[in-house]
Amino acid sequence: MSKRIDFIARSGGHLEGQARVPGDKSISHRAIMLGSIAEGETCVQGFLEAEDALATLAACRQMGVRIEGPEQGRVTIRGVGMHGLKAPGEPLYLGNSGTSMRLLCGLLAGQPFDSVLTGDESLSRRPMRRVTEPLRQMGAEIDTTPDGTAPLHIHGGRKLHGIHYDMPVASAQVKSALLLAGLYAEGETCVTEPAPTRDHTERMLDGLGYEVRRQGNRVCLRGGGRLTAADLDVPADISSAAFFLVGASIAPGSELILEHVGINPTRTGVIDILRLMGAKIEVLNPRMVGGEPVADLRVVHRPLKGIHIPEKFVPLAIDEFPVLFVAAACAEGETVLTGAEELRVKESDRIQSMADGLQILGIDARPTPDGMIIQGGRIGSGRVHSHGDHRIAMAFAIAALRASGPIEIEDCANVNTSFPGFAELAGRLGLAIEVVEHD
Ligand code: S3P
Repeated sequence: MSKRIDFIARSGGHLEGQARVPGDKSISHRAIMLGSIAEGETCVQGFLEAEDALATLAACRQMGVRIEGPEQGRVTIRGVGMHGLKAPGEPLYLGNSGTSMRLLCGLLAGQPFDSVLTGDESLSRRPMRRVTEPLRQMGAEIDTTPDGTAPLHIHGGRKLHGIHYDMPVASAQVKSALLLAGLYAEGETCVTEPAPTRDHTERMLDGLGYEVRRQGNRVCLRGGGRLTAADLDVPADISSAAFFLVGASIAPGSELILEHVGINPTRTGVIDILRLMGAKIEVLNPRMVGGEPVADLRVVHRPLKGIHIPEKFVPLAIDEFPVLFVAAACAEGETVLTGAEELRVKESDRIQSMADGLQILGIDARPTPDGMIIQGGRIGSGRVHSHGDHRIAMAFAIAALRASGPIEIEDCANVNTSFPGFAELAGRLGLAIEVVEHD
């Protein structure tokens, strides 16, 4: 158990300067998993040295993959090939990381050995049938608790066959789990998504020489191929940049440049939503880096207005809603979010966690089953709870930029799952956060 940590974010001020936020979490997970089963040595730079991605790294090491680093974002993976993973001696503990658990579940479903996946309290509450059920249709045998949650017991030695799966929810984790299982399945595995979700798995498979066919909202691959190691460059995580995009947008006098941010179009909903609210965000020097689009983002303060968030942006900004709710609280008028029931099954129930905290701070925030209705207003001072959810903690820290007094945020240790050094970087850019450690 890590120490309990609270944040006390000082109110007022503005953000100014230039920074590169840590590496993309989604891409870091995939780099470790795919590098592990590739043939040859994969050198990764920009890797996210945070608990979630490190959980994936540790799991692959437990299965016999030699991995050097991370050191300043550099990791070298000595790939063992498609059939080189070894049975882990003990359960693979994945901490808070849903991506590790769901993607590894797919990867392990077709291995010749048994494995067990466990996680912390939050991860052990999250729904896993969304992956185990389609994997079962492919021939996998995976036990969950009666509630469909972890621990997951994956029985090895099952022969998988490809399926055509129509995903009921727009989930990149489910899509990726099935594609990873599909690598080991006989025949073709196809996944159709109800709305576009992040496509890092498809891009990286392609970059490592595996044929992936994409047509409209469907992606297919055939099992039995191989991956060839290649160097990977992980861009800065737009989901981490989002805190500062909102912070600079709401705090008068702000001007920031965020460098080398991944702007994959399946991830840029936060920019579209903020722009619809009136934000000024410029995309500078767009370029391709290792198969992923990257740019520097310049953001300056602008008064925001409330909007009805178009549902098509929901999967494209799925991790950014905690901080977008803070933008809405600072906007003139009403913001309405619908079609986002998935927020209820993230690291916490993000609709309830944010509505509770915003109400404590004096904002009229009404949760609905699939979203929230927020009236812009004056943010007060107060003590809120993160519910152990990294993005809730960081969102309330950003809210302090427009609060009448300090915001105390309980239980912020999990910020380390995605954004180590958040408080220090925020301080350098103009938002003072005191980090209080408890024994
Ligand atoms: C992720 C996909 C998203 C996102 C998560 C990371 C991924 O989850 O919320 O933080 O890396 O594939 P869903 O695809 O389940 O919505």
